[in-house]
Amino acid sequence: MSWDRQITLKNAKELAIMREAGRINAEALAAARAIIRPGVTTADMNAAAEEVLKKYGVTSPFKNYPGPYPYPASTCISVNNELVHGIPSARKLRAGDIVSMDCGTFYQGYVGDSAFTAGVGEISELAQRLLDATRDALMTGIAHLVVGNRVGDVSAAIQECAESRGFHVTREYTGHGVGQAMHEGPQLPNYGISGRGMALKVGMTIAIEPMVLVGTPRTRVLADEWTVSSLDGSLTAHFEHTAAVTENGPLILTQLKDGLNPWDLSGQ
Ligand code: MF3
Ligand code: CO
Repeated sequence: MSWDRQITLKNAKELAIMREAGRINAEALAAARAIIRPGVTTADMNAAAEEVLKKYGVTSPFKNYPGPYPYPASTCISVNNELVHGIPSARKLRAGDIVSMDCGTFYQGYVGDSAFTAGVGEISELAQRLLDATRDALMTGIAHLVVGNRVGDVSAAIQECAESRGFHVTREYTGHGVGQAMHEGPQLPNYGISGRGMALKVGMTIAIEPMVLVGTPRTRVLADEWTVSSLDGSLTAHFEHTAAVTENGPLILTQLKDGLNPWDLSGQ
């Protein structure tokens, strides 16, 4: 997937709106994170997030997003081998599963976009290492979101973090600029070469989203035409923040408050 979409630089006022969009988004993710336990369905998680969106009167940029058919829910929930774009359903989570949730908000004309992966009950050591690597890849990528760097510096940092721990990054789905549209330029792959690609500029807002797979970088789309699975059925994880390039370095827009990620609160 490659695109040539517009890049928009946001001023301080726009960043303040996007920060609120992102904060609401974080609250929705945290609400869903808090109910995760064996027996809970992915539809229950979606409902918990939707309740927060409703409370703030915000809409979801995911709902009806164009695809093979309009995306039918406000969030994407993907279990184990499912990498991204899983549709919330009556599927019950089981102990040992890992579940990814991706949520978006539309607030005063601007988008927040963020995702996490969490374990259900006790998870395997491999699953835990995968979650840690994917989350660390996200945070390393964000740390490289500074003026003077290029898109390739961020991409390479993400790839290096995941691969140094023995995992793979997808080539088929990428991070992206975000603003009044959910998908703007620049495109931000999870693999790349330092020093290459577009120079980062103050006011860019980018959704950085490492998608990491245990067995193969390759994926396939399941019969529902939305859910993306690892090709070999192996475990996968996804973490995402919307972050801005500022004069003072990277600014994460999708936290509950400064330094507090939606996945930091203990669940279960
Ligand atoms: N956060 C995802 C993305 O960045 C999910 C959007 S897929 C949708 O592309 F269909 F649900 F909108
Ligand atoms: Co995204």
